[in-house]
Amino acid sequence: MLDKAVYVTKKIPEEGIDLLREHIRNVTVNPESRILTKNELIRIIRDCDGVLAMLTNTFDEEFFASAEKVKVIANYAVGYNNVDLSAATRRGVMITNTPGVLTDATSDMVWALLFAVARRIVEADHFTHEGKFAGWEPMLFLGEDITGMTLGILGAGRIGTAVALKSAGFRMRVLYCDPQPNRILEEQLQAEHVELKTLLRESDFLSINVFLSPENIHFIGEKELQLMKKKAFIINTSRGQVVDEKALVTALREGWIAGAGLDVYEDEPILASGLTELPNAVICPHIASGTHQTRIKMSLMAAENIVAALQGNVPPNLVNTELVR
Ligand code: DGY
Repeated sequence: MLDKAVYVTKKIPEEGIDLLREHIRNVTVNPESRILTKNELIRIIRDCDGVLAMLTNTFDEEFFASAEKVKVIANYAVGYNNVDLSAATRRGVMITNTPGVLTDATSDMVWALLFAVARRIVEADHFTHEGKFAGWEPMLFLGEDITGMTLGILGAGRIGTAVALKSAGFRMRVLYCDPQPNRILEEQLQAEHVELKTLLRESDFLSINVFLSPENIHFIGEKELQLMKKKAFIINTSRGQVVDEKALVTALREGWIAGAGLDVYEDEPILASGLTELPNAVICPHIASGTHQTRIKMSLMAAENIVAALQGNVPPNLVNTELVR
């Protein structure tokens, strides 16, 4: 048993907490359902060696300057744009994430959003729940075909690849845009590696799966949206900041594109003005990794990372690997 203290900033599946408690003497889980402010967090973790953190917690220079005891922050997410990585590295704090275990859940969600928006499932469901179904109609809730259409993958990493591979049953033409060629997609789907402009012009469904970095903030803005087909759909399960959300609302309202399936937003939990009024936007509250099975795996992975770090080992999912070189 390690004589260490770990703070878990939100309730997560018990499996991860149990694992922490098997190895660490003092494990505290935030009992509150609200997100702690940075100052609250700084105060609470003053005597902690590790933090199991959410993507809603911010870890910046100010945090690291006042959290001298913290050795490891295990982010309960694959993305870690909530952490100032260089500040963490400068202060010698290990940052870990949860790659791989959420690839399937997230790529499944891309397809759920794609189907929902293209086949108008949410609108049709509300209509039926409201008792408005008065018999079969030839023109009722007409959507768009999916089978045989062109799928565009922006960012062909783990999740983008999984999204594309799941298209096989729908006989889609697959295009992808990524700095690296993707042999799996080319061999298994005859996917074409294309420039951004081609991806935007030719995709019927554009799935955004890039990792957020300072370079790709507003990567998809007004200019890019205007290049897309009027019948195209955008699906975003990566990070909201990749898309200029104000421009997207205009595009959806004015019919530059047909619709959007969104799980992430620029300024969560605030949504761009007008977004909630648009029937051609299916909007979910950042739940792409939210299955029971996946969240259990994420909790175990985050806990394993903390335990390894506090045992003096290299955590399996260390992000700032320069700390151990
Ligand atoms: C992530 O892991 O980055 C998701 O956004 C939340 O699971």
